Amino acid sequence: MAALTGFAPNFLWGAATAAYQIEGSPLADGAGMSIWHRFAHTPGNIRGGDTGDVACDHYRRWAADLDLMQSLGLKAYRFSIAWGRVLPEGSGRSNPSGIGFYDRLIDGLLERGIEPMVTLYHWDLPAALDDRGGWLNPDIAGWFADYADLVYRQFDGRVRKWVTINEPWVIADGGYLHGVLAPGHRNRFEAPLASHNLLRAHGAAVGAYRASGRHEIGLVVNLEPKIPASDSPADVAAAQRADAYMNRQYLDPVFHGRYPAAMRDIFGAAWPDWPAADFASIGQKIDFLGINYYTRSVTRDDPQSGLLAAAAVVQPGSTYTETGWEVCPSALTDLLVRVAADYGNPPLYVTENGAAFYDPPVAHEGRVEDPLRVAYLREHLRAIAAAIAGGVDVRGYFLWSLLDNLEWAQGYSKRFGMIHVDFATQQRTFKDSARFYAQCIADAQRRP
Ligand code: BGC
Repeated sequence: MAALTGFAPNFLWGAATAAYQIEGSPLADGAGMSIWHRFAHTPGNIRGGDTGDVACDHYRRWAADLDLMQSLGLKAYRFSIAWGRVLPEGSGRSNPSGIGFYDRLIDGLLERGIEPMVTLYHWDLPAALDDRGGWLNPDIAGWFADYADLVYRQFDGRVRKWVTINEPWVIADGGYLHGVLAPGHRNRFEAPLASHNLLRAHGAAVGAYRASGRHEIGLVVNLEPKIPASDSPADVAAAQRADAYMNRQYLDPVFHGRYPAAMRDIFGAAWPDWPAADFASIGQKIDFLGINYYTRSVTRDDPQSGLLAAAAVVQPGSTYTETGWEVCPSALTDLLVRVAADYGNPPLYVTENGAAFYDPPVAHEGRVEDPLRVAYLREHLRAIAAAIAGGVDVRGYFLWSLLDNLEWAQGYSKRFGMIHVDFATQQRTFKDSARFYAQCIADAQRRP
């Protein structure tokens, strides 16, 4: 295959993970329980009764995992810090052993020439804070900024890229509207509140960073282009509602200091008047935006379909992943171009992109063939190169995910890794996609 072209020599080639999905040992060394630990241990929440108790056992195997990253030639690694390892009750008393884990991890990355990108919050809220209202309590912006400040002071000398929050939309929609993710609430009045407090917490953490941090900080959003199923006014309006809800609800306040007007139409009486002062903090300048892109959605008007009165239309002829997501690389190019055009061409990273496909459950003679993931990766990298060629400032790519891991409510049933994990033995095996990715990285170093 011809080498991929179009990436600058300093393009950051990375992979991403999140604490609860890979670490295991969730209560070790004085860590406080998280809402995901509690949710996973409540029967019926996670497919097959799976939990993050062991996951990839990365808490104990981290050094060997870093060796694997190095052997693939990764330039960067995006991981998250478990808030409750650092502050077992979420605020107040800190836990040196928990901080020590990330201290060793960061040093281990730097020793291997891999740049850390640290996410402060990837969904594992300390349960003690949930007991005080969690994302519904307005005080959470201050709790989060205090936690962030402690972590910046500890690591900012060595960490140059910080992410405040991963995917506020998923947290609010899955955790507070549909109840399929922790903390498992189903309440249309809570979802806007949780969402707004997530943005306030983001703003407070950016504010704290400006006081003590010396490098770059950004937000990670998951964006999903909404394409009208037809040019009928009803379908066009449905796609606009879906776009406002999933994409613009976060992009507009962060870059333009206001919510899209459509939010009030969508939530009706559940959408409050927000204090104008909040938007100065939410809309502070960020140094980059992280975009998680998995799929697009072709959308039609459907008055029977929930809050948005919109439904997705299956596309005959398209490939779908094991999580039911249409594979559509060209929508990634269009998305990057749109974000650049509508939001002032900010520096961008694709902070997650990847797919769960049916992989052989065990390695055979040291190999796991995953041709669909290889094709997915190749086509999405080409889609990014096309956006860069069009003038979009994309600075790096983080494959989701380094390892097969706990896919939240789907448990271990969905494998997103480029490295296969045998969960019975913790044996790691490079899938063909890992070898392919390593080759792309090596080629890009040779030929911009
Ligand atoms: C999340 C990951 C998740 C992935 C695949 C993203 O929404 O940030 O934690 O595993 O998508 O569903």
